[in-house]
Amino acid sequence: MTQRLTITRPDDWHLHLRDGAVLRAVTPETARHFGRAIVMPNLVPPVVSAVEAAAYRERIMDAVPSDSDFTPLMTLYLTETTDPADVAYAAATGLVSAVKLYPAGATTNSQSGVRNIDAVMPVLETMAEIGLPLCVHGEVTTPDVDIFDREAVFIETVLDPLRQRLPTLRVVMEHITTEEGVKYARSGGENLAATITTHHLIINRNNLLVGGIRPHYYCLPVAKREKHRLALRDAATSGDSRFFLGTDSAPHLDPLKLSACGCAGVFSASNTVSCLAAVFEQESALDKLEGFASLNGPAFYRLPTNADSLTLEKRATPCEYPAHIDTEDGPITLFDPGFDLHWHVV
Ligand code: NCD
Ligand code: ZN
Repeated sequence: MTQRLTITRPDDWHLHLRDGAVLRAVTPETARHFGRAIVMPNLVPPVVSAVEAAAYRERIMDAVPSDSDFTPLMTLYLTETTDPADVAYAAATGLVSAVKLYPAGATTNSQSGVRNIDAVMPVLETMAEIGLPLCVHGEVTTPDVDIFDREAVFIETVLDPLRQRLPTLRVVMEHITTEEGVKYARSGGENLAATITTHHLIINRNNLLVGGIRPHYYCLPVAKREKHRLALRDAATSGDSRFFLGTDSAPHLDPLKLSACGCAGVFSASNTVSCLAAVFEQESALDKLEGFASLNGPAFYRLPTNADSLTLEKRATPCEYPAHIDTEDGPITLFDPGFDLHWHVV
């Protein structure tokens, strides 16, 4: 008997759409399955003001297929010169749903990010007052901290002190990758949540490095040991509403990935829903998929859930997703989970 699963239409609470030819090629991939997505502002140059976010929103809308109801939720890139009044204005008009904190140098296009948290306290205080969430890339960038320890050290030395200083600030720990991240998210109250990517539920650092380096599995935060992947799986499938989906689908053109200094980012928009169904089935938790992908995110962002639904069907024949999608600037390789996908979105 065919198994079918109908869930409220999911949202993606952490997504990179880029600009230009890549934007035009990847937006339909997300719009096909998702109702909304929190769109990351790390363009070159970054989206730092309300005016720029409004213009970027227009460019995204132009790339959304005409038969889709997909809604981009905009974010502002926090810099040390961000104006609290501009953030308050952008939030009040409903234009932006969150502000993104990148520690300077932590990841792709983060060089305009924050070096000194004291410099952004006035913005964070305003955000705490108006209830605007701060999405945090939680890794320190200090060269003497090992890349595999950067998330745990960030929680201890930056995030926890910040939350003690400003307990009413609503924080989303973006793309957590460690058991320390899971534990800290669980220890927080109603002002703390965490997103988890699809690929961090599937790959560990062996998949990245054993038997040859796999550039398409390289992302930031970098995949960790198996025990961390298991902790993420446990969090995502537990039904705990503090955890929700942020795919961190992060397209880079293949030549930029397959390079002596390859870019960080896994592009997973097209097959993420099928991958997630596989993961939740492997964990005997298909009944928790809707909470993780469709309900917990809107609850934290204080938005209604999507009114329509998405149906998946498990078939004996595997799904046929392309190995890469084509853009006018070249191909982008799609995430390969390493196993056949049988949950088709119908
Ligand atoms: C993201 C990107 O390419 O913009 N890369 C990644 O590896 N996740 C940036 C980010 O979210 O860290
Ligand atoms: Zn990201």
